[in-house]
Amino acid sequence: MRETRALAAPWNRLCCVEQHMTDSLRFFFAWATDPLRVASVIPSSRALARAMTAEIQCESAPVIELGPGTGVFTRALLARGVPQEHLILVEYGQEFADLLRKRYPCADVICADAARLCKLSGIGATKPGAVVSGLPLLAMPRRKVYAILRGAFQQLREDGAFYQFTYGFRCPIPREIRTRLGLKVERIGWVLENFPPAQVYRVTRRTPPAGQCPTPTLLQ
Ligand SMILES: C[S@@+](CC[C@H](N)C(=O)[O-])C[C@H]1O[C@@H](n2cnc3c(N)ncnc32)[C@H](O)[C@@H]1O
Repeated sequence: MRETRALAAPWNRLCCVEQHMTDSLRFFFAWATDPLRVASVIPSSRALARAMTAEIQCESAPVIELGPGTGVFTRALLARGVPQEHLILVEYGQEFADLLRKRYPCADVICADAARLCKLSGIGATKPGAVVSGLPLLAMPRRKVYAILRGAFQQLREDGAFYQFTYGFRCPIPREIRTRLGLKVERIGWVLENFPPAQVYRVTRRTPPAGQCPTPTLLQ
């Protein structure tokens, strides 16, 4: 038994390296076809995936992932104990959505624009505890960023959190949008082991002062 495992280990490692290389190529070709949508030449590193999912537990399920690409964060979410059938993967690129369906047959893969999040059916009765976003917010118009955040917080439970990374030096969600939606942001990580290095932000609802109605703009 131990010998079989010892023989299987290098083979498994080889398969991982092969998958990593094909994913990198797939990602590069997707970027070459649509650079604004893909916004990176290679998938995020495992270090960034760990930082993006560090606060997520199985109690966070269901979890929505926006812009999963080849599924680097998806793998990290599974490693954090979120069951595959409690993952909702919203990916705009058909090439990535097809790949994710093959790779995660029990997850709910929705090929759609994340800006339509508030209109998407199929997000079950239990409200998600977290949204993990790999979306290139810096490359998007403000109206779209607003629609994504508004939709995400309509879906999230009251204490739910939205996780976002950026290659920029500041939070990619403009202050005006945060104020309008009653949100606060906190930087929770800085990952040098990624190309390019990235910062990780947690976005949550601001606790309203006692007696005040919670985030009225979300109720529109
Ligand atoms: C920077 S890549 C991140 C991919 C992956 N999360 C990672 O970190 O390796 C951005 C991803 O978001 C997807 N995407 C871009 N705009 C989108 C949108 N409006 N709705 C859903 N997915 C979108 C792209 O197709 C791509 O998979």
